[in-house]
Amino acid sequence: MPALRAQAAKSLRGSIRVPGDKSVSHRSLMLGALAVGETRITGLLEGADVLATAAAMRALGAEVTRHDDGTWTVAGRGIGALQAPTAVIDMGNAGTGVRLLMGLVATHPITCVFTGDASLSRRPMERVMGPLRAFGTRFTARDGGLLPITVEGAADPVPVAAEMTVASAQVKSAVLLAGLNTPGETSVIEHVATRDHTENMLRHFGAEVITDALPDGGISVRLTGQPELKAADILVPADISSAAFPLVAALLVPDSAVRIEAVGLNPLRAGLVETLIDMGADITIENRRIEGGEPVGDLVARTSALRGIDVPPGRAASMIDEYPVLSVAAALATGTTRMTGIGELRVKESDRLAAMVDGLTACGVVVRSGEDWMEVDGLAGPPKGGAEIAVDLDHRIAMSFLVLGCVTENPVVIDDADAIGTSFPGFVDLMNGLGTQIGATSA
Ligand code: S3P
Repeated sequence: MPALRAQAAKSLRGSIRVPGDKSVSHRSLMLGALAVGETRITGLLEGADVLATAAAMRALGAEVTRHDDGTWTVAGRGIGALQAPTAVIDMGNAGTGVRLLMGLVATHPITCVFTGDASLSRRPMERVMGPLRAFGTRFTARDGGLLPITVEGAADPVPVAAEMTVASAQVKSAVLLAGLNTPGETSVIEHVATRDHTENMLRHFGAEVITDALPDGGISVRLTGQPELKAADILVPADISSAAFPLVAALLVPDSAVRIEAVGLNPLRAGLVETLIDMGADITIENRRIEGGEPVGDLVARTSALRGIDVPPGRAASMIDEYPVLSVAAALATGTTRMTGIGELRVKESDRLAAMVDGLTACGVVVRSGEDWMEVDGLAGPPKGGAEIAVDLDHRIAMSFLVLGCVTENPVVIDDADAIGTSFPGFVDLMNGLGTQIGATSA
């Protein structure tokens, strides 16, 4: 568990590519395993979370191979043909991995036991088990609906019409994946639209998925069960949730101009860019194009004087993983930034709302918060810094505070650099290549 220290950077310059999108990477391995034929994946995120999903798909009978040129192939078994694993499946830190897999196996006549690390083992799983029970699936969980969980898949699943009670693409996706091996139509109603990678990728593999807008701004998604999924090539876009860190760093560090290439800009993911531009950020999007069925573009960010805003709560789902680094940007803005409707942050890899409030406060920033909101008083200049932050197995908390340390008067230390590897292997080298000064605490 090595510590890392970030100290003030003079200028960030350069052009980078951040690793592949975590959401798309998990789904490409899972859908590849259910398709007939060989799926080739280019740009797969090789972070610990996705590697846990790759191992799980192997344990369920798919042939998953990494090739020397960095591409991955999955030889699928076809829907309904997953085999029972011979050992407990340890998903590590991967919330998306475990929740989507619980859906996938829920309608296969097999029994699986899932476990995870200390962070994943405190995250709520009832939100997925509830809708999946309606298919006929049985679960045995630790008290409180926590991992480890045994899933007994339904042998004769019945289709489900689920209405989401939380804005969660993971829960929606678990239901849709369970619907794959279920005869008839499975549907999901979402009152707040969340990322639609599962729907888009299911169509890419040949499933019939119909999405309709609802009058309240939500959506309904209908899937026809037991399609024949055909292997399809996948080009994984760069992860906007990872791009967020160098993007915000470039806005905050003086004399900076950074290009981040080929970032996925799915509208249900791009809320941070919109929000930063509302705050006065100098961000341009160049070379907009469609790659692998997803909109992508190069993000070019330059040092900017930011001003605090009220972030619309309706935007929360499209930037849910970006609030930690947004609150870092808010600390250097003029005026107050209000973030509301963000209660889901409390059940991420850590309680991110509490982590940001505590860490920013320790670095000399004035922050107020409630159950589902946070306000940051911008200092219009560098915070004091000088704190050591307990990362608590949360990669995005680790990276957010390293970005903060690039612009504080005194260095910021995080206690656990390993957490970063779950989603952003190579983060420190990539950032230091731009000009940050992130290194070991003994340096
Ligand atoms: C994800 C959905 C989000 C997000 C997570 C990835 C996905 O979680 O926070 O990092 O790939 O579906 P929720 O569904 O819990 O909001």
